[in-house]
Amino acid sequence: MKYLIAANWKMHKTVAETLDYLDKFLPAVKDLFTVDIMIAPPFTALASASIKLDAAKKEGAYNVHLGAQNMFWADEGAFTGEISPVMLNELDVQYVIIGHSERRHIFKEDNDLINKKMYSAVEHGIRPILCVGETIEEREQGITLKVIEKQIKAGLAGIEMDMPFIDIAYEPVWAIGTGKTATPEQAEEVHKFIRELIHDLSKGNDSKTRILYGGSVKPENAKNLIVKDHVDGFLVGSASLDPQKFYKIITEVLEV
Ligand code: PGA
Repeated sequence: MKYLIAANWKMHKTVAETLDYLDKFLPAVKDLFTVDIMIAPPFTALASASIKLDAAKKEGAYNVHLGAQNMFWADEGAFTGEISPVMLNELDVQYVIIGHSERRHIFKEDNDLINKKMYSAVEHGIRPILCVGETIEEREQGITLKVIEKQIKAGLAGIEMDMPFIDIAYEPVWAIGTGKTATPEQAEEVHKFIRELIHDLSKGNDSKTRILYGGSVKPENAKNLIVKDHVDGFLVGSASLDPQKFYKIITEVLEV
């Protein structure tokens, strides 16, 4: 399976800044075919990024995919402020981040809503990255694996057999945007647990599912994490905002 290195820009970058980034980034990565790269800009920049990526594909950059940071589950309707999978399909969006901890905590998304979004993404052929992770209090109480199990089982309810079309990101909440990274051993413990869980849930149909690590990934710590058996890529926030840093993370992964 190919590693997936995904950029979650969150609420950063205008359309002009997105295009400027892609102009710098795409020529550098277009020949790195042994890795999948995903970039998730804000919704407002998806259309322009899509045109740019389409042009880059004609130059041979097939390895860079467009992602959305969120979506709603319905095709259309009275859902003020939401974006539907049909709208994402129109822009050739291939990935969508679902259940990011900022969506869960700031916007109060619960497992039930996340499950509906997961189901809808799979149904519309947009590959979801289901994000899971424990808070610092949960880790200190020793219930990390219980929390992860609950989030995964609820997020995947009814679509367990669709594992080939799904990726998972383990992002400890205490490591997101804090500069604190899980140690490679802490990450590996949870990734191994997730691998066994999805293997069981999908009745062994999980060989195409990548388990990404996210939470303060940077060029300096990428190699020590990616060498772990069950770390299949990264979901990168702040370090992905700088094209050179993101490129460096990708090259660290390629050296392994
Ligand atoms: P970070 O964010 O790399 O800035 O910690 C990761 C994420 O939230 O996906």
